[in-house]
Amino acid sequence: MTLQAIKWSKADGKLEILDQTLLPATTSYVQVKGVKDGWNAINKMQVRGAPAIAIVGCLSVAVEILQHPNYDDKNALFRAIKDNMNYLVTARPTAVNMKEAADFFTEMTDYLCHSDDFTLSQMKDEFIDRMDKMLRGDVKDNKAIGRFGADEILRNVPEGSSVRVLTHCNTGSLATAGYGTALGVIRSLHERGRLEHVYCTETRPYNQGARLTAYELVHDKIPATLICDDMVAALMKTKEITAVVVGADRVAANGDTANKIGTYQIAILAKYHNVPFYVAAPLTSIDLKMSNGDQIVIEERSEREMTHMNDKRIAAEGITCWNPAFDVTPASLITGIIMNICVSKPSDGSDFILKYTDVIIR
Ligand code: MRU
Repeated sequence: MTLQAIKWSKADGKLEILDQTLLPATTSYVQVKGVKDGWNAINKMQVRGAPAIAIVGCLSVAVEILQHPNYDDKNALFRAIKDNMNYLVTARPTAVNMKEAADFFTEMTDYLCHSDDFTLSQMKDEFIDRMDKMLRGDVKDNKAIGRFGADEILRNVPEGSSVRVLTHCNTGSLATAGYGTALGVIRSLHERGRLEHVYCTETRPYNQGARLTAYELVHDKIPATLICDDMVAALMKTKEITAVVVGADRVAANGDTANKIGTYQIAILAKYHNVPFYVAAPLTSIDLKMSNGDQIVIEERSEREMTHMNDKRIAAEGITCWNPAFDVTPASLITGIIMNICVSKPSDGSDFILKYTDVIIR
């Protein structure tokens, strides 16, 4: 059985998402009945992970349009799409994917709106049809990331040997339309019979590693061990880790990468222990408009995520908390960015755009 975080039926205009706040104890799908539900599901992290946020956001606009079919004219439909997309961007600020999708669909529907070749109903069909392409395209991109990443990691090890990889947060089928980015690289290594072991961090405070990545790894019968976030240095010192592979919420033009809080400290530890550190991300996570990582807005979340576990308070009453959901790893610590078209190597700190056009497209 394949793990499916997002269920979409174009015929019924029905969208359901696996409620990730309840995993791994409870498998329960919730229906997203429109844009407001989409915004809440993203904000409350019932769906999370940069690609999945964008996909559910866009599908919630599709649901809204299919449920409320009476637009007066093409301009009214264009405004509804544009305004709803921009509203969804505000649900969580750090990942760029929803913003990229909003810009793409605004531009696309602006064109359809002003072209005489499309009626109102054709404009709507084009928009809805594009959703299936987005879902299929994400899985295809993730499989390409998996191939490029596995090739890259295996290039640096003796022929036929297997590898030990560390990952952080959740970047798998639950964070995407399927297969995953960093977890896609791990799946690809496993499919080739070259993965000896994967270690996943628990990823405090939201525990995406312990709850979600561990769930996916057990589900796929991938040899895996869970570690606490503060065990990474000890792991690198004692277990001969071949490489670290993590995901990304936004990669700036120079290669600086925002990802789940804790990624930066893992990159520093990897540098110290001479372990290659890779970021796996589709092109939709790359933000060439931001020249470097200092400009990335870091979401800060409720202190309750730190002070409570399953509604039980675990922190001392009266303590104040700081809960940034992401941090930025400088390009100089990143061995390579594994994308769906190539692997780029920004680790010398030079301009990622130049590196990006410089790489051999394999
Ligand atoms: O707060 P989250 O769970 O949405 O954070 C997720 C991450 O940081 C992932 O590494 C990133 O979005 C990539 S998911 C393919």
